[in-house]
Amino acid sequence: MKKEIRVWDPLVRVFHWALVLSFAIAWISADEFDTLHFWAGYTIAALVAFRIVWGFIGTRHARFSDFVYRINTIKSYLIDLAALRPKHYVGHNPAGGLMVIVLLLSLGLLTFTGMASVAPDGIGPLAGTWVESISGYWMEDVHEAVANLVLAFVLFHISGVLISSLVHGENLVRAMINGKKEIEEKGDEN
Ligand code: HEM
Repeated sequence: MKKEIRVWDPLVRVFHWALVLSFAIAWISADEFDTLHFWAGYTIAALVAFRIVWGFIGTRHARFSDFVYRINTIKSYLIDLAALRPKHYVGHNPAGGLMVIVLLLSLGLLTFTGMASVAPDGIGPLAGTWVESISGYWMEDVHEAVANLVLAFVLFHISGVLISSLVHGENLVRAMINGKKEIEEKGDEN
């Protein structure tokens, strides 16, 4: 028998969809509307900072300890996924967990290089700091390259979500909206 359980707490869900919105706004406003772009970037930085803290003190499935797996576990999961018989996880699966870390780190780097690239113009929180002295026009190119990398990770992330939803026969997008997943009442779920 199946039962519905709560997996993602409200803060994780608000974090996720606010991140999606901010990333979309930052992408569209890049090179066009500086003020909007800067504020979307600051919002992303604040969201990432919040999520890192929540990864330590948050609810069960929000914690890093719940979804950071050993490299061998990630490999086994991917091998089983390719064979269409992956083990089901209630929280992030091992590959999804790695993706979350990659996304958070790359988004952190993205916002840092963004703020660093405007610091020499006296703009943003990094103006007047040591970052200003090491930054230059080249930082803008780095920022753009990191943005393209993050976009590639996001596309990979969305593909992973869709593949995982299909293979496990569950709607992960809906779970990130209402916070709930259906699981077998008895079984060795994690
Ligand atoms: C419309 C596009 C998107 C959809 C449908 C989507 C869907 C999802 C879903 C279903 C999960 C949970 C995965 C699981 O069950 O293990 C998730 C997690 C996550 N997604 Fe997305 N996503 C989208 C766009 C993005 C974007 C643009 C970013 C970053 C810029 C992003 C970053 C993340 C992060 C960091 C998590 C981990 C959530 C947490 O544990 O706090 N997603 N996403």
